Amino acid sequence: MAMSQDPLAPQEVRIDLGDRSYPILIGTGLVEGLASNAMLPKAAAALIVTNATVEPLYAERLRTGLAGRYANVHVLSLPDGERHKDWETLNLIFDALLARGCDRKTVLFALGGGVVGDMTGFAAASYMRGVPFVQVPTTLLAQVDSSVGGKTAINHPLGKNMIGAFYQPQLVVCDLGTLATLPPRELSAGLAEVIKYGPIADMAFLDWIEANLAALRACEPAVMAHAVRRSCEIKAEVVGQDEREQGLRAILNFGHTFGHAIEAGLGYGEWLHGEAVGCGMVMAAHLSQRLGGVDDAFVGRLTRVVEAAGLPVLGPKLGVDRYLELMRLDKKSEAGEIRFVTLEAPGRAGVHSAPDAVVAEVIEQCCN
Ligand code: NAD
Ligand code: GLY
Repeated sequence: MAMSQDPLAPQEVRIDLGDRSYPILIGTGLVEGLASNAMLPKAAAALIVTNATVEPLYAERLRTGLAGRYANVHVLSLPDGERHKDWETLNLIFDALLARGCDRKTVLFALGGGVVGDMTGFAAASYMRGVPFVQVPTTLLAQVDSSVGGKTAINHPLGKNMIGAFYQPQLVVCDLGTLATLPPRELSAGLAEVIKYGPIADMAFLDWIEANLAALRACEPAVMAHAVRRSCEIKAEVVGQDEREQGLRAILNFGHTFGHAIEAGLGYGEWLHGEAVGCGMVMAAHLSQRLGGVDDAFVGRLTRVVEAAGLPVLGPKLGVDRYLELMRLDKKSEAGEIRFVTLEAPGRAGVHSAPDAVVAEVIEQCCN
């Protein structure tokens, strides 16, 4: 896809979901300018939910802006990390809302990566049976994936994202300027979800990613703008057709069945979510090859792209039985049968089961 003439001009991608439709704004300086956005819900109070890493970087900018819009703007900083995506931390949000006397119109702002976004969204879905929320994603992963589409959740020790709700934000604001402070390892983790959109939906985008990997890893603004925009367009297209994952939306989980097993098997936070997804896509590509959807050359190509993005391509040796046990808990499993997102052809994915023996071969081949 060609870039627009000024790649740094503010862009908007729309999620079409009837009366739950909303825009994703993509540009720079959007955190400061957010308060003037006409889409912001009217309320007396706002709660900015962030974490200990992001708060000192961006919370004051957002708080100052919103103070012109809401009579009371509160800030809550959660502990940072995937291992805190749990009930205990979620409860801190409810504690803060109740202690501050927040009513059912209070607007929650999720300022941070996917962990903050998923937990804040879940809190918004359930506080007083639902309050409005706005996503202000500050990681690449959150801008291209987790802030969009309304999946909210916390982890359970037995499985990733097992407790949650579908609940759409009112607005998503992707300020590309926030990516400048992202550590390289986190940038690479975000690239996993960008790469994902190529093999499942748009091979021209995979060509573009391959040609621009160095610029992506250097976080060049014009290139990031295109990566975020195209990723959001593809996600919007899929979510617009299948909001609650009755079918098509599952393709967005390419690499995630293996990836979630790696995250849970090692303990949350040991590998980053994007690292597990990167390696999981390589494993899913091998499985696709065994099922006849793609050839060796394609598997090699995808492996090289994932590796060049700074992501692992060999999984941890958890053991075949442990992988299978963990993957049976995946949300796509039916009656104990694991179902994988595999490639039916380059650029096209579907959900398929596979004999345990074939999955075992993939695990043996891809784990060191
Ligand atoms: P994260 O939220 O843990 O953020 C990564 C790290 O970067 C954290 O330490 C964070 O504090 C820090 N950080 C955030 N913004 C920063 C910035 N601008 N500068 C410097 N540091 C910054 O991880 P993530 O990769 O953003 O998200 C992963 C989570 O998202 C997982 O829990 C995953 O399950 C979830 N997820 C959800 C969906 C969905 O559809 N809801 C989709 C994909 C992933
Ligand atoms: N990240 C997968 C989904 O939103 O469905």
